[in-house]
Amino acid sequence: MQKLIINGGTRLEGKIQINGSKNAVLPIAVAAAILGDSVSVLHNVPNLTDVKTLSAVLEGLGASITRKNGSLYIEPINRMEYEAPYDLVRQMRASIYVLGPLVAKLGRAKVSFPGGCAIGPRPVDLHIKGLEHLGAEVEVKKGYIYAQAERLVGAEMDLLGQHGPSVGATANVMMAATLAEETTVIRGAACEPHISDLARFLNAMGADIEGIGTSTLTIHGVKQLHGTEHTVISDDIEAGTFMVASAVTNGDVYVEGVTAEQIHAVSEKLTEAGVQLDWDDTGVRVTTPGQLKPIDVTTAPFPGFPTDMQAQIMGLLTLASGTSTITENVHTDRFIHAAELNRMGADIRLEGRKAIINGVSFLSGAPVMASDLRAGAVLVVAGMAAAGETTVSRIYHIDRGYEAIEKKLNSIGADIRRVNDGE
Ligand code: EPZ
Repeated sequence: MQKLIINGGTRLEGKIQINGSKNAVLPIAVAAAILGDSVSVLHNVPNLTDVKTLSAVLEGLGASITRKNGSLYIEPINRMEYEAPYDLVRQMRASIYVLGPLVAKLGRAKVSFPGGCAIGPRPVDLHIKGLEHLGAEVEVKKGYIYAQAERLVGAEMDLLGQHGPSVGATANVMMAATLAEETTVIRGAACEPHISDLARFLNAMGADIEGIGTSTLTIHGVKQLHGTEHTVISDDIEAGTFMVASAVTNGDVYVEGVTAEQIHAVSEKLTEAGVQLDWDDTGVRVTTPGQLKPIDVTTAPFPGFPTDMQAQIMGLLTLASGTSTITENVHTDRFIHAAELNRMGADIRLEGRKAIINGVSFLSGAPVMASDLRAGAVLVVAGMAAAGETTVSRIYHIDRGYEAIEKKLNSIGADIRRVNDGE
């Protein structure tokens, strides 16, 4: 295993380019591999462990995937393999995305039931509900989800869950519905930018989806989808992470390749906290003219403040001049990073799904551990702001969603080394 050693206290300065969105490319690659009947080419694909894991799942199903210069060439499945085994699914929950497309294409699917993870329980009842509405018979037994349907038939459904819309269920059911007979209407659909990117990709494959970007998606089923070429949207969460990194190091960083619309809620909160954002056509310059101010943040589905930026904004607020609060409404147990930040001198108290953050004047380097992807990201960010050396272990979590994070940050002034455990 590897870890990152961060020499803190350096100021970030320069330009950083944002990669393609992890959470967009995962379902798009699934659609290309399972629903398409000819080769698709995806551009702007980040080189991440999650993309490699998903590729292994899709190759196990019979697809053929090649990566060349940041693009994925996906030749769709060519045999009747319909099982996504435990060994692969347990590495990445997003493997559940193959469920709907397999039923739509092959009439059946057997997908290992994904477990919970460090950010809390993560049920899949809405995925199942949506597929049942389309006429699939779904059964969970011995750790597997079995789904089958001679043919899927469009239906009206509401996929709003207890914690709001589900990104995964919306993607899964939308993909399945593209090849169903007749018309499907999904109410309570997730509207995240990566869901819209998936819908645009499906339409480019020949699907007929209306209402993209809204909470009601209307999908007129078609008989066949063909391969296409697509450039994946940029990663709003990677961009937000680097914006926070600039702010906490009192830096002057131009984050290139993100639009104000994609990251509106995060921008609004950063501005309220005293961070200056100067937008132009290609990105945003991030500076911090004065002391960071305390704010209150509540996570919510898009267009609200994203749960995937909750850890990073917490890192920033540890250094604000007063008391901030964060209420986590999407993944209600997603606070493991708070204890790690406290090890670095932060003053964070948890009350259920709320974190109370009393700003401190400085953080100190410490050995800390990443418990999930974004929790890992905030420890790197905090490590750059802290005095002295921070060692972040279990960085395989970070590599799932950030491509070569240390190389990117070092190119704008950070001092981060990747070493093997034991070195
Ligand atoms: C996606 O996960 C993202 N993952 C997550 O990003 C992100 O945190 C999440 O959406 C919310 O934005 C990918 O896109 C691969 P959900 P997903 O279904 O689809 C509940 C990251 O850091 N729910 O939108 O699994 C669920 O428990 C990752 O990049 C049900 O109740 O999330 C949660 O409270 C982590 N039943 C809420 O809905 C279901 O069947 C939203 O979850 C499904 C979800």
